Amino acid sequence: MQHDSLYDDSPSSSRATRSEQERLAQLKSQIRHHDYLYYVKDRPEISDGEYDRLFRELADLERAHPELVTTDSPTQRVGAPPLDELGKVWHERPMLSLDSLMESDEVLAFDQRMKRELDTDQIEYTVEPKFDGLSVELVYDHGTFVRGSTRGDGSVGEDITFNLRTIRSLPLQLQADRYPDHLVVRGEVYMRLSDFHALNRRMTERGNDVFANPRNAAAGSLRQLDSQIAASRPLVITCYEVMAMTGAPPPSHWAELEMLAMWGLPVPNLRRRCQTIDQVLAFHRETEQQRANLPYEIDGVVVKVDREDWQARLGMKSRSPRWAVAFKFPPRKEITEVQDIAISVGRTGILTPLALLKPVEVGGVTISRATLHNADEVARKDIRIGDTVRVERAGDVIPAIADRIPVLNEVRSDPFHMPQHCPICGSAVAREGAYFYCTGQAVCPAQLKGAIEHFASKTALNIEGLGKKTVAQLVDQELVKDLSDVYRLDREQLLRLKGFAEQSATLLLGAIARSKTAPLDRFLMGLGIRHVGQHIAKVLAKEFGSLNAIMSADRDRFQEIREIGPEISESLVSYFQESSNRRVIEQLHKLGFSIAGTPSPQNRGALPFSGKSFVFTGGLMRLTRDEAKALVERLGATVSSSVSQKTGYLIAGADPGSKLDQAQKLGVTVLDEKAFLDLIEQQEKN
Ligand code: IVH
Repeated sequence: MQHDSLYDDSPSSSRATRSEQERLAQLKSQIRHHDYLYYVKDRPEISDGEYDRLFRELADLERAHPELVTTDSPTQRVGAPPLDELGKVWHERPMLSLDSLMESDEVLAFDQRMKRELDTDQIEYTVEPKFDGLSVELVYDHGTFVRGSTRGDGSVGEDITFNLRTIRSLPLQLQADRYPDHLVVRGEVYMRLSDFHALNRRMTERGNDVFANPRNAAAGSLRQLDSQIAASRPLVITCYEVMAMTGAPPPSHWAELEMLAMWGLPVPNLRRRCQTIDQVLAFHRETEQQRANLPYEIDGVVVKVDREDWQARLGMKSRSPRWAVAFKFPPRKEITEVQDIAISVGRTGILTPLALLKPVEVGGVTISRATLHNADEVARKDIRIGDTVRVERAGDVIPAIADRIPVLNEVRSDPFHMPQHCPICGSAVAREGAYFYCTGQAVCPAQLKGAIEHFASKTALNIEGLGKKTVAQLVDQELVKDLSDVYRLDREQLLRLKGFAEQSATLLLGAIARSKTAPLDRFLMGLGIRHVGQHIAKVLAKEFGSLNAIMSADRDRFQEIREIGPEISESLVSYFQESSNRRVIEQLHKLGFSIAGTPSPQNRGALPFSGKSFVFTGGLMRLTRDEAKALVERLGATVSSSVSQKTGYLIAGADPGSKLDQAQKLGVTVLDEKAFLDLIEQQEKN
């Protein structure tokens, strides 16, 4: 692949001579070497002036002979034209996360567990910092960096190849000659604290919003559509895991890191190999002491069983490996002042008190608000406006107020009370236990926004593109006054919203249209009825089979069901008694909404998988069985538990059972997970 955007003004070129070609190759390898010394080793050997000369000479040669430009050339770090959106990348292996431990006792227990499972009394661990950045996957083919992506949901991430290319410490070409044909590496992209502060100063000078912390700054930079912007942000990368490679894997994590380093990839400098768990604890202690002096943010250390064969034997759980854990640092606390107590209103109308703080930096992040959870909590901690308090932040957790610090001779303000009227819509506030809620329901814009976000969310109707920002605009501009209005939106209206163009409008309209056939349980869950989450929605769908049956059931009927108690039945009955709710459901029906699983007969025939049956066997990686089931049912298929001649497809995941043999005997089409998802995607597009 060639990118010649840098050379739009290039003169018509003549064929390169042999000596020009040789010089070009020489320059590329010299620059690569000096980049490595400067950005990875932090040990430059030539002056900036000399470096610039080499770089200019290369750029001139390439300008004269654009046909010789390759993607791994140092000039290509900023060569790509801006994109409309980031593409999707399926990870070859799932990108797992780590279990977090907070206490030494838990780490000792982890060590005991490992020893038990491996039946040994000595385990070597490799420990390294837990970088507080963004996890990325890098793919090298024949030593050339070909693709990079974000973690995304662990299975599918976003293609950020062009932005990653701008990171100078990331080699575009691996060094040494014994690298594997194919290599997938995982690492963390982050921003040094000094660069982060300098960037924020620049942002302020230009009148732009500042980033809340280095991690957000790194994430914002990596997800830029224009790699020129990414290039202007000083990002760095450290690699800590080989996710896949051709050939035999190194025998230990330690050896793996050394190998990565040999290929020219940056690896954690602060690593240590520990013979005992006490050495692991010591590394954690020492690293925590160094934390404040490090030029970048870390939030703990990562402990990994060193031996590769042991890692393989321990394997993984659904989302994390068994052989590694994050041993986090305790949350940092800082002292500040409560300037005000505000109230936020959520989807279900619940009022949450929020402390507005005098901005304070806790572990590199400026904190200006903290949740106070509910009225009881405020009373228990006795927090009032003007108080001096300690705030804490633990990793990703929302900042919270740890406690109040009494100050000698202070004059305190009155105790805090919840308001009697909703601060958003003015409706009366009612109380249920520790919770206060706004009775305004759909009249209250805050609740309406929350209700629509919930309706559109992944586990409900999964309307991609209908996120928080879009919903806020739709409600604020009064384009959507209740749920059914979502299905009345047209292209013109969407195009008037901030952030929308032809393509995004088409995508959203498509997603909205597709959501019109939904399985009953997802629809029920999407309505956001109090106490009706995913599980209860499924129970109801199974028990009643149709929305009508649910709408006409009474308290006693609901309570006949084992999982349903008085609270849930009360909530269901009052939801469906409310005339505005019934009206919305009626409207949805009129707008062509049909509940799959119980579609009308004429509708069913039209679905792509009508009359087909699916059987699943083995474990799926990218979705749960229930999600897979819902997908095919939405397209008109039925799901059965055993294979017969009538089975349309057998979907075989990891470790398939005897159903696979059965299907092969009967000549039933067998698809693996990837082929299955491709099939679904194809049908959903049609
Ligand atoms: S190893 C299979 N090592 O921490 C093991 N992760 O929840 C995968 N992280 O999302 C991770 N520093 O982004 C590993 N030295 C390190 C790390 C590290 C930071 C991040 C990673 C992951 C998160 C864990």
